Amino acid sequence: MAWPTLPSPPSLDSIISVADRALRSVFAPAQASRPLPAAGAAPDLTEAERRESGALMRVNHTGEVAAQALYHGQAFAARSESTRALLLKAAREESDHLAWCEARLSELQSRTSILNPLWYAGSFTIGAIAAAFGDRASLGFGSETERQVEGHIDAHLARLPARDFRSRSILEAMRADDIAHGAAARAAGGAELPAPARSLMKHTSRVMTHTAYWI
Ligand SMILES: [Fe+2]
Ligand SMILES: [Fe+2]
Repeated sequence: MAWPTLPSPPSLDSIISVADRALRSVFAPAQASRPLPAAGAAPDLTEAERRESGALMRVNHTGEVAAQALYHGQAFAARSESTRALLLKAAREESDHLAWCEARLSELQSRTSILNPLWYAGSFTIGAIAAAFGDRASLGFGSETERQVEGHIDAHLARLPARDFRSRSILEAMRADDIAHGAAARAAGGAELPAPARSLMKHTSRVMTHTAYWI
């Protein structure tokens, strides 16, 4: 793997788009470009089920904030325009995921994590660092992220209250998109990451998901 190098100094335009994307992701309600993938009336959940679904969907929402921030950071420091376009396309789909999780959280009378600005900033930085290793490493990082996200969604599908089919359909749709994001990153030349990097990523996301369950 090549040593990381800094991209050429960012233009004022790119700094403004970075700030704009960050503020929208963290503070504005997300806009979905596709309908909520949850058919039928909201199921009647017990208080305990509603609270558990709310906590799990808050974790998923935070995961989507981080996923979008990683892609924004990677796009910011990408070398080629084609890589940047691929990353920003994935980030726009993560924005649907954000909007879907937000919609479900409000149906569950739950809330998003108060630490999301922190997760956005940390993930943006990690994404930019990954991109400093070059586009192949950055795409490999994207592919590994999505592989770990898929495992995380599988675990949540098993934990969700059985009657909460609305949250379930949202997670299934997100899972399908995230698998496609990983495949696109590999097809574009994403390199396999070394095992220590993969395990560092797993530990970092564990801290985030465990915290978001509560706050
Ligand atoms: Fe996602
Ligand atoms: Fe994704």
